Amino acid sequence: MPARSRSAEDHVIVIFGGRGDLARRKLLPALFHLHHEGLLPKRFRIVGVARTETSDEEFRDFAREAVEEFDRRPADSDWQAFAERLSYLSHDVAPGDAQPLTDAVKRAEAELADEGAGSVRRLFYLAVPPAVFGRLTLALGEADLVERSRVVYEKPFGMDRPSFCELDEVVRSVLAAPQIYTIDHFLGKETLQNVLALRFANGMFEPVWNRAHIDHVQIDVPEQLGVGSRAGFYEQTGALRDMVVTHLFQVLSVIALEPPASLEPKPLTDEKVKVFEAMAPLRGEHVVRGQYEGYASAEGVSEGSDTETFLAARVEVDNWRWAGVPFYLRTGKRLAASRQTVTLAFREPPRRMFGGELIADRQPNDYLTLDLGRGELAVSFLAKRPGPGMDVEPAQMRYSYSEAANGKLVDAYERLLHDALIGDRTLFTRADGIERTWELVQDLIDRPPPLGAYEQGSWGPERAADLIAPRRWYLPERDGRPAS
Ligand code: BG6
Repeated sequence: MPARSRSAEDHVIVIFGGRGDLARRKLLPALFHLHHEGLLPKRFRIVGVARTETSDEEFRDFAREAVEEFDRRPADSDWQAFAERLSYLSHDVAPGDAQPLTDAVKRAEAELADEGAGSVRRLFYLAVPPAVFGRLTLALGEADLVERSRVVYEKPFGMDRPSFCELDEVVRSVLAAPQIYTIDHFLGKETLQNVLALRFANGMFEPVWNRAHIDHVQIDVPEQLGVGSRAGFYEQTGALRDMVVTHLFQVLSVIALEPPASLEPKPLTDEKVKVFEAMAPLRGEHVVRGQYEGYASAEGVSEGSDTETFLAARVEVDNWRWAGVPFYLRTGKRLAASRQTVTLAFREPPRRMFGGELIADRQPNDYLTLDLGRGELAVSFLAKRPGPGMDVEPAQMRYSYSEAANGKLVDAYERLLHDALIGDRTLFTRADGIERTWELVQDLIDRPPPLGAYEQGSWGPERAADLIAPRRWYLPERDGRPAS
């Protein structure tokens, strides 16, 4: 975690969806890790809220198991001090039925006051499906819990443009803009933030970061995992809402943005939003949707489901920097490998002097690859094969952020939770940008292209290869094995 000038004020942190998948995999481990690093407020309480009947003790056990399974370090001597600050409320919070929540928050605040806290802040984390965001926000308003509060909304914020507009109106009727934190955890990934350093702190990359030198860009997030226990959520979102209009678009905006005047929230977010404004709405003929075999018979999936578990798209950013440079996006569940990769492929130079195969091979051979998952940057290029003659062969230079950080890359959720606690919205998304991203995919939502089946463990429907042809999907080797 980078040194921060601000430290968080005393807090009551409420997690709606406290017994859910996100709380288990990410939020509770991240909060425990922040506690271990001394980055939580001096005085805090964490209240898990959900409908599931659970005692405080069971919630602590649930949190401990989550930490043991998903944190990078075991729940050791720090655990007890953390666990003592956890409690649970089983209640279906809704407008007109929020008193138990008010009581739970006030109880936690009273405990903090006994420990010497002054004015306590509140952080509400909505780790629940978007359909309940509006209801919970209204409940917070009615329960008189808005004062001293910040509210974090998980993605997707809305399900399409009309539902976004409706939700945005409700949220703005209850909260002031500085209280609203719409999260997209890919923006918290350290390697993505490093794109800003790479591009704007060096003289080497930015001059070639444009249509004169870049042939195309790939944003590729294949996943081996399936939908698992999240079928209920996933049936509503599919890959388009779960990954593309959210994570992949946000990554695209950081890759494509113009230099902001400063890295303050407004100028930086303005530049990201300008990228979305310059993007052309996605067209059905530039999109491939797929569903892995076996998905439709999984528990929680409706019969004959039309939900896509795979989506690949060709996207255009029609501005002076990028016009004519296709951005290819791909993501899907149950694919052959798990990666989070951005590749910028350079235009091919005239290679006549090297003869033979290289002239026939119209593929770009020089790439810049950012591995967001691993924290790696690689430059792939052609180099002279050692020895007599003048043949060239592929070569690579790598830089590992995780090695530079001694394996201590900050987890995206830790970073963003900490930012929310100290009131820094720089790495959160903004309503005008979200609205525009929905506009970009509204036509796809209204008229989804046909769904193609694909085998589990494959690279998705074959049409995804046609979408990018004559180029091809490129993932760098990992551990000596080619990925695609
Ligand atoms: C989540 C999606 O937001 O991101 C999941 O809902 C996806 O479907 C996950 O698997 C990927 O995130 P991570 O933690 O691998 O960066």
